[in-house]
Amino acid sequence: MDQLFEAIDFVENSLYEKIINDISMQQYSIVENFFSNDEVSILRESLLNKHEEDTFKKAAIGNRVNETIAKSIRGDMILWIDESKADTKERLFFDKINDLVLYLNKTCFMGILQKEFHYALYPEGTFYKRHLDTFQNDDRRKLSFVCYLNEEGWLPENGGELVLYLNNDRQETEKVIYPFPGRVVVFESQILEHEVKPVKTERMSITGWLKTR
Ligand code: OGA
Ligand code: MN
Repeated sequence: MDQLFEAIDFVENSLYEKIINDISMQQYSIVENFFSNDEVSILRESLLNKHEEDTFKKAAIGNRVNETIAKSIRGDMILWIDESKADTKERLFFDKINDLVLYLNKTCFMGILQKEFHYALYPEGTFYKRHLDTFQNDDRRKLSFVCYLNEEGWLPENGGELVLYLNNDRQETEKVIYPFPGRVVVFESQILEHEVKPVKTERMSITGWLKTR
């Protein structure tokens, strides 16, 4: 019986294997349909409800700098999600994340012990200038995770591309990623600088970090 359980425990998950492989080869991974259309609309609804309740805050940057500086760097509104208070909609999100974390820890000994996630809404005209996610003085951030919750039919013209700055043989290249709904991007927090280009249509996501220690 024990043996059977062990065997089930170690069933390979091809989606997670792709993420692991991509990250080891190129420091990022793009996954389509990590969340289904239905799941994306449930999570988007959850984001919009919370936003209507006016619980979002202007995102800050690193250390306490004055607000005008912060605004010239990033213009998104965020709301941190407390997993211990997650409702059924948010549970759906965390169940998937926890499953992935379990797999990463088991197969790659990643040692992910903590995580933090927030809703993010970029109003029209906002952006997030080039940065590294560990500039907030948190070297425990290992993997950055962004899940896009935009409406179906999101177009490249809507702006808000995520640009990853890749370093291949000291040559910098840009990887442009459109925030299509259901798409998830995972990347190395301590290595890849990136930015969010100006948004022309309100842009929604859940963004977070898988952390060590
Ligand atoms: C961030 C970030 C990227 C994105 O919140 O730190 O870089 O595509 N987000 O939303
Ligand atoms: Mn970032």
